[in-house]
Amino acid sequence: MVIRSVELPFVCGVKSTLPKTGRPEFVLAGRSNVGKSSFINALVERKSFARTSSTPGKTRTINFYNVNDSFYLVDLPGYGYAKTGPVEQEKWDRMIRRYLESGEDIEEVVLLLDARRIPNEKDLQMFSWILSTTGYEPIVVITKMDKLKRSERAKALKEIRAKLGASKECMMIPFSSETKEGRIEFLDLVEKILET
Ligand code: GTP
Ligand code: MG
Repeated sequence: MVIRSVELPFVCGVKSTLPKTGRPEFVLAGRSNVGKSSFINALVERKSFARTSSTPGKTRTINFYNVNDSFYLVDLPGYGYAKTGPVEQEKWDRMIRRYLESGEDIEEVVLLLDARRIPNEKDLQMFSWILSTTGYEPIVVITKMDKLKRSERAKALKEIRAKLGASKECMMIPFSSETKEGRIEFLDLVEKILET
């Protein structure tokens, strides 16, 4: 897939009305700092189109990126980050849930997990919540693969899959925004989904 255009036409705060994009939406969920915004930048080959940060809690809105006027990548605030306080966090959790439950144009939910970490309670909750809400397992993207040694890769992927209790069919894409590993694979998958 060739990326011809990227725009950010909708940015939603906690009280915003969610837009009706009328295009298939690929939603990126994952804990703070896992690399959701970096994933978008790597996919569209723009260094800092989506704002990223080494401190968690950077993305504080739901951002709808229009790609090629064909589909949307939706960047969510990370879950499980409570610097803003539990009240604020709860508001966001509710907003994200509301969107995931009622978003009419959601095509796929993508759950991002850090290659170096065994999924925690929040990740497991998210995985099973996506499964029960949409009826499908999310596409799982394993970020920061560049941080692993060659010899650690297979084991890490296997451990994450086992911890999630994911089925054999569950798509798991090793990814790195540094090396761009997984970029083509993910875009090919999007293309395939859009064609069907
Ligand atoms: P929130 O907006 O807080 O939810 O975080 P996020 O999931 O959008 O993470 P973000 O993309 O801002 O990345 C967090 C940090 O991880 C940044 O310092 C990135 O440079 C780094 N990072 C993200 N992806 C990768 C990767 O594939 N490899 C390496 N080495 N670093 C990465
Ligand atoms: Mg972000």
